Amino acid sequence: MLKFLKIAGFLLVVVTLGYFYRIIHRQNIIPYIGSNNIEVSDENVLQNISPSEVLKEGDGIIFLETSDRLELSSLVLCAIESAARMYENRPVVFFLKGLNDTNIEEAVKTHFPVLSSLENIYIFPLKLEELFIDTPLLSWYNKTNPEKESHWLHVSADGCRLALIWKYGGMYMDTDIISIRPIPDQDFLAAQHSQFSSNGIFQFSAHHNFTQQCMEDFVKNYNSRIWGHQGPFLFTRILRKFCDLPDFNSTEDIMCGNITFFNPQRFYPIGYPSWRSYYRVWDKLPTFNDSYALHLWNYMNSKSNLTMVPGSNILVEHLYKQYCPSIYDSILRNMTTL
Ligand SMILES: *[C@@H]1O[C@H](CO)[C@@H](O)[C@H](O)[C@H]1NC(C)=O
Ligand SMILES: *[C@@H]1O[C@H](CO)[C@@H](O)[C@H](O)[C@H]1NC(C)=O
Ligand SMILES: *[C@@H]1O[C@H](CO)[C@@H](O)[C@H](O)[C@H]1NC(C)=O
Ligand SMILES: *[C@@H]1O[C@H](CO)[C@@H](O)[C@H](O)[C@H]1NC(C)=O
Ligand SMILES: *[C@@H]1O[C@H](CO)[C@@H](O)[C@H](O)[C@H]1NC(C)=O
Ligand SMILES: *[C@@H]1O[C@H](CO)[C@@H](O)[C@H](O)[C@H]1NC(C)=O
Ligand SMILES: *[C@@H]1O[C@H](CO)[C@@H](O)[C@H](O)[C@H]1NC(C)=O
Ligand SMILES: *[C@@H]1O[C@H](CO)[C@@H](O)[C@H](O)[C@H]1NC(C)=O
Repeated sequence: MLKFLKIAGFLLVVVTLGYFYRIIHRQNIIPYIGSNNIEVSDENVLQNISPSEVLKEGDGIIFLETSDRLELSSLVLCAIESAARMYENRPVVFFLKGLNDTNIEEAVKTHFPVLSSLENIYIFPLKLEELFIDTPLLSWYNKTNPEKESHWLHVSADGCRLALIWKYGGMYMDTDIISIRPIPDQDFLAAQHSQFSSNGIFQFSAHHNFTQQCMEDFVKNYNSRIWGHQGPFLFTRILRKFCDLPDFNSTEDIMCGNITFFNPQRFYPIGYPSWRSYYRVWDKLPTFNDSYALHLWNYMNSKSNLTMVPGSNILVEHLYKQYCPSIYDSILRNMTTL
């Protein structure tokens, strides 16, 4: 009897300690928007869990890197951190082609120490063939030779985002989008301008008619020589099947069937001809209060490679400080330890 009580007591202590550890741990990682003193723990999200397990609720937020690179710009890291903070109750999943089951642990430790310390971020290898199984894209992928394709990185990224959101549901975001306000939970596409949909950010429930039809059209009308043909142009042609799109007159959104077509102000308050404005000092900072997230036009930036420089006072520095403070801190730390 005494022995039983001892064991039971011991178990109770273990369970209680575990419980407190969990609470303390959770408190440490609750993201404080705009705060610079978040604890960055060493623990990383090298979860023994599969992507489908993480994404099964259909509320995941997905980022992709289809090149083999693991050295990514600070903007990519900032985009992912900002989403993790903005949607702290949703899993934020980053798939990288350059990861595989043999290098994942080391690579995540080396390249993504900050991201992997945030509890709702998951990092996985991107396996194209596995991803396309059970989708119309498999037949296309099987007969395509990546080496012979123009724009392969873009085209494969176009296919992957469709397959993922069709399979699991959730939101896809490009890695040059900084989240600044939560997007209402609904199926949506983002207008880049009137009558034209982007494919850089969108959200659908699993097996939605829209993503289904996009994948079918992707395969049927595939043409990798035309840039964007499998991307924004594909999304725009399929969206037109769901309604007649009116022009935007002001900052209103449009309902197209049951899909919300967000006003260009929601994600593109600074249009691509002005993309350099993000890298300039502003007299008065814009409030962006008609926007949910900011697309920084990395594609336009690929020739000049402008980056966030701490202390420069440019607009992106303010965005980093407010929306991805851990990445901002890690950049500062790295500079001062050199
Ligand atoms: C995993 O990736 C590393 C480098 O990124 C590479 O050297 C290695 O061959 C890859 N392993 C497999 C099984 O693909
Ligand atoms: C694609 O190729 C894989 C093996 O490489 C095969 O198992 C699968 O049946 C093929 N699927 C299609 C649709 O051709
Ligand atoms: C999907 O859309 C097509 C064409 O718009 C329509 O024929 C079909 O009934 C829709 N399917 C569902 C499940 O709503
Ligand atoms: C929206 O409509 C499509 C068909 O057009 C359907 O597949 C989907 O389930 C609908 N979603 C909701 C939330 O009603
Ligand atoms: C914008 O104005 C035009 C002309 O009045 C109208 O036809 C259109 O529906 C309006 N667009 C929206 C999104 O309300
Ligand atoms: C937008 O910002 C202005 C100040 O720049 C403020 O007066 C207004 O209330 C804001 N609107 C919303 C919806 O937050
Ligand atoms: C910009 O960065 C890309 C990728 O990191 C690199 O390939 C390119 O050469 C750089 N361009 C300039 C002008 O530095
Ligand atoms: C630290 O700075 C060095 C040199 O500027 C750079 O190569 C490296 O990627 C930086 N590391 C991090 C984690 O930012």
